Amino acid sequence: MDIIEALKWRYAVKKFDASRKLTDEKINKVKKALQLTPTSMGLQLMKFVMVESDEIKKKITPIAYNQPQIEDASHLIIMCRKTDVQSTDIDSFIETAALTNELEVSHESMQDYDKSLRVSLSIPEEQQKIWMDNQVYIALGNLMTVCAVEEIDACPMEGFNRKKLNEDLGFTNQNLDAVVIFALGYRSEEDYRLKFKKVRRPMKDLFSTI
Ligand SMILES: Cc1cc2nc3c(=O)[nH]c(=O)nc-3n(C[C@H](O)[C@H](O)[C@H](O)COP(=O)(O)O)c2cc1C
Repeated sequence: MDIIEALKWRYAVKKFDASRKLTDEKINKVKKALQLTPTSMGLQLMKFVMVESDEIKKKITPIAYNQPQIEDASHLIIMCRKTDVQSTDIDSFIETAALTNELEVSHESMQDYDKSLRVSLSIPEEQQKIWMDNQVYIALGNLMTVCAVEEIDACPMEGFNRKKLNEDLGFTNQNLDAVVIFALGYRSEEDYRLKFKKVRRPMKDLFSTI
């Protein structure tokens, strides 16, 4: 499918066909795409929690204000960021980068890289959190496009009690904070949104040229 056709085809699904499940092949492609998503400085301070269990989905439903997508979707991806940036996050990133490029961690370029990361991240904790949230949204944007191209239906969801989800699923104890829930699967032919056309601001309002 042409990319514009794919973006027109996709929409935020309100009613999934609960009888249809995504294959492992599709799920693996989605996971690979998430792994390849670029992030600021390449740090990937995030974790994607794949939810397949019906029991966990049932637990999430009231936390997501009873939105039906939670239980009807084939899978959920809870897109989390780290609660805070720790020194070990930078250590492990530098180690991976050195290993990938067959360099020693003690190599001058790696030491410089390490230093520049620490300088960039020496910002107030509140700013770090906003910055990490933003990185998750980049992954979300990428994911929505990949799903459209793969003809996987989806709904991005911010409509949930973030604090309660973090507590009830034990994310807080794992240094994680849930930013968005991504429901994916197949649209139901009964979804009322299928009757509606896409609503977008006109190009002349959205763009300017200088
Ligand atoms: C970050 C984000 C959070 C959203 N949260 C919800 C949600 O909690 N529940 C829902 O039904 N739709 C949610 N949506 C879907 C939007 O309402 C929808 O994408 C928007 O109206 C544009 O319509 P379209 O995606 O069908 O083109 C969310 C979308 C985004 C991008």
